[in-house]
Amino acid sequence: MNVGVFLLLVSVLKTATFPIVSSDPSDEACLTHLSNSFQDSNNKLDDWTKNNFATPCNDSTANLKGATCNNGRIYRLSLNNLSLKGTISPFLSNCTNLQSLDLSSNFLTGPIPPDLQSLVNLAVLNLSSNQLQGQIPPQLTFCAYLNIIDLHNNRLTGPIPQQLGLLIRLSVFDVSNNHLSGPIPASLANRTGNLPRFNSTSFIGNTDLYGYPLPPFKNKGLSVLAIVGIGLGSGLASLVLSFTGVCIWLKVTERKMALEEGKVSNHMPDY
Ligand SMILES: *[C@@H]1O[C@H](CO)[C@@H](O)[C@H](O)[C@H]1NC(C)=O
Ligand SMILES: *[C@@H]1O[C@H](CO)[C@@H](O)[C@H](O)[C@H]1NC(C)=O
Ligand SMILES: *[C@@H]1O[C@H](CO)[C@@H](O)[C@H](O)[C@H]1NC(C)=O
Ligand SMILES: *[C@@H]1O[C@H](CO)[C@@H](O)[C@H](O)[C@H]1NC(C)=O
Ligand SMILES: *[C@@H]1O[C@H](CO)[C@@H](O)[C@H](O)[C@H]1NC(C)=O
Ligand SMILES: *[C@@H]1O[C@H](CO)[C@@H](O)[C@H](O)[C@H]1NC(C)=O
Repeated sequence: MNVGVFLLLVSVLKTATFPIVSSDPSDEACLTHLSNSFQDSNNKLDDWTKNNFATPCNDSTANLKGATCNNGRIYRLSLNNLSLKGTISPFLSNCTNLQSLDLSSNFLTGPIPPDLQSLVNLAVLNLSSNQLQGQIPPQLTFCAYLNIIDLHNNRLTGPIPQQLGLLIRLSVFDVSNNHLSGPIPASLANRTGNLPRFNSTSFIGNTDLYGYPLPPFKNKGLSVLAIVGIGLGSGLASLVLSFTGVCIWLKVTERKMALEEGKVSNHMPDY
C-alpha cells in the first residue's frame, strides 16, 4: 500500500468517525463564563444556551449569534451594539483560538481582564464605546499579533502602557475619550523605523494625557503649582497683615493708655 492510498484512507476514516459538530472544553468554559458575566437584558443572545456551548461549532458555522468558527474552534466573536451590560469574564482567555474580539457599543463595565494575554492569536480587539474602567493592561503586549486596539469611548484611567509600542503589527490604536493620564509614550506616537505612528486623533479627549502629539505638560501640573503658590502667598500675606494689624492695635492701645494715664495724671491733684 503506497503512502497516497494510506493518507486517503486516513482522511476518509477521519471524516467518518469524527462528527462535524465539534466540542472543545476550552471554548465551552470560555462561552459559559462569558455568558454568565454578560447581562443580556434585551435577550439578544437567545441562542447562547448551555447545549450550544458544548458544541458551538458545526463545521465553520457557529451555532451562536456573533460567533464564527474555524477548524471547530471559535475564532471570531462579534457582539457589538447588543445593549449588553455586565462585565468581561477573565475566562474569555479560554477561547484560545480567538483572532477577533468585538464587544463594541454595549454598556459593559469593569476592567479589561489582563488574562486576555493568553489570546496569543488575537489580531483585533475592539472594546470601544462601553463603560470599561481601570487601566489598560500592559499584558496585552503578549498578544503579539494585535493589529487593532480600539478602546475609545470608555472610562479607562491610568497611563498608557509604553510596552504596547512593542506590538510591531499594530496599525490602529485608539484610546480617545477616556480618563487616561500621564505622558503619551513615544513608543506609540513617535515610533521608530517604518512602524505607523499614531497622531492626536488616537489620544484626544483625555484631559490628563500630555506630550506629543498632544500639547506638552502644562495645565494640571502648573495649576497645582499655582494653587500651592497662591496658598503659600496668601498665607504669608495674611500673616504679615495680621501681624501689622496687631502692631497697629498695640500702638493705638499704647497711645490711648498713655493718653488716659496723662488724663488721669492731669486730673489727679498733685500731692
Ligand atoms: C481556562 O483558563 C484557566 C486560566 O487560564 C485555566 O486554569 C483552565 O484550565 C482553563 N479551562 C479550560 C477548560 O481550558
Ligand atoms: C450542521 O450543519 C448542517 C449543514 O449546515 C446541518 O444539516 C446539520 O443539521 C447541523 N448540525 C447541527 C447539530 O446543528
Ligand atoms: C444599533 O442597534 C440599534 C437597534 O438595535 C440600531 O437601531 C442601530 O442602528 C445600531 N447601530 C449601529 C451603529 O449599528
Ligand atoms: C470598533 O467598533 C466601532 C463600533 O462598533 C466601529 O465604529 C469602529 O470602526 C471599530 N474600530 C475599528 C478599528 O474597526
Ligand atoms: C521623534 O524621535 C526622533 C528621534 O528618535 C527625535 O529626534 C524627535 O525629536 C522626536 N519627535 C518628537 C515630537 O518627540
Ligand atoms: C491621523 O491619522 C489618520 C490615519 O492614520 C488620518 O486619517 C487622520 O487624518 C490623522 N489626523 C490628524 C489630526 O493628523
